[in-house]
Amino acid sequence: MSDQQRGFSTRSIRLAGGKEDRYGSLVPPLYMSSTFVFPSAEVGGARFAGTESGMIYSRLGNPTVEALEQAVAELEGGEAALAFGSGMGAISAVLLTLVESGDHILCSNGLYGCTFDFLSLLKRKFGVDFSLAEMSDRRSLAQAIRQETKVVFVESPINPTMKLVDLELVAEVAHARGAKVVVDNTFLTPYLQRPIDFGCDLVVHSATKYLGGHGDLIAGIAVGRKAMLDEMRMSALKDFGAVMSPLEAWLILRGLKTLSLRMDRHCASASKVAKFLQGHPKVKCVMFPGLDDFPQQQLREKQMRGPGGMISFEVASLEAGRALLNGVQIAKLAVSLGEATTLIQHPASMTHAVIPATVRQQEMGISDGLIRLSVGLEDADDLIDDLQQALAQV
Ligand SMILES: Cc1ncc(COP(=O)(O)O)c(C=O)c1O
Repeated sequence: MSDQQRGFSTRSIRLAGGKEDRYGSLVPPLYMSSTFVFPSAEVGGARFAGTESGMIYSRLGNPTVEALEQAVAELEGGEAALAFGSGMGAISAVLLTLVESGDHILCSNGLYGCTFDFLSLLKRKFGVDFSLAEMSDRRSLAQAIRQETKVVFVESPINPTMKLVDLELVAEVAHARGAKVVVDNTFLTPYLQRPIDFGCDLVVHSATKYLGGHGDLIAGIAVGRKAMLDEMRMSALKDFGAVMSPLEAWLILRGLKTLSLRMDRHCASASKVAKFLQGHPKVKCVMFPGLDDFPQQQLREKQMRGPGGMISFEVASLEAGRALLNGVQIAKLAVSLGEATTLIQHPASMTHAVIPATVRQQEMGISDGLIRLSVGLEDADDLIDDLQQALAQV
């Protein structure tokens, strides 16, 4: 049986082990070295010329970072991956590689706040336009794509409204119009969703979240075709310099060993917590792909292996939300997501505050009473007790 045919957990553990080294180390070595010594002037020159492979300088590549790139590329089903110093490092490098002045980027009608902010900067300073679109059907999607559209950028589920985007449909329509599709897969990881299997071109991650999984690092990664990523390595990575530290890569490799186990637990606990919230009189609505009455169930079954660990829900008002956030004891009031500790935050005043209020409320559907919960790995019953007592104070 080839390695590719084995289960996700087996593959992620094997890949996280990196290549065999001369001591037989079970865990990949951590190469904390900024530069690499050439055996001769000729070899150094050949490495720079690209006629000989080998390490040069850690901004161009590092063995520990390379082990992580190979592991994530394989888990996502891509040819290659490129590691960055943050999720935003990956997103900005990918977009800057794919577009130029006069181009247009079409986005799902909900985006992480800093992605939106970066798109606004591209528009303001470099004349790259962008727009948001409801991508639920072929016709509206085809209408939203312009002649100048070079990239369709989507989150699915969308942060924080948890709406899904049909990845296969988007890839089909975008490719017919000559545009590339980039998917931010941070919320689900390759264990729960593999956009490349549905024809998407590039996957980006904030590896800060589930891939690392322990809330102790900031990192990003992009996965896709080798030729595209090789070009990106020698421009958007080498020259902008948002590289991942080898220590971060080493920690994420360690995180990958337990990714499937953690994601299963995140999914199971979030399903319990979402059901509890749905039955609570002070909660107006719950957005979670695992609910029985989730409006896009067919799509969920088609492209996701599980609902993930992210829940959004609405309470009556901003004040009610504040009282809830101040009342929780087990969940921590902090942005970020995808780690062992349950995190709770208020998108309108925190992660999505940079988005103008009208766009946030009317186009993205983020109300002032919307709360986002990243369900962690604590006991689900304790999380429910905590939310129960905090909601009693609302
Ligand atoms: C969906 C999503 N994409 C990208 C990012 C940016 O990642 P980073 O904070 O690692 O730069 C975040 C951060 O919260 C996110 O939630």
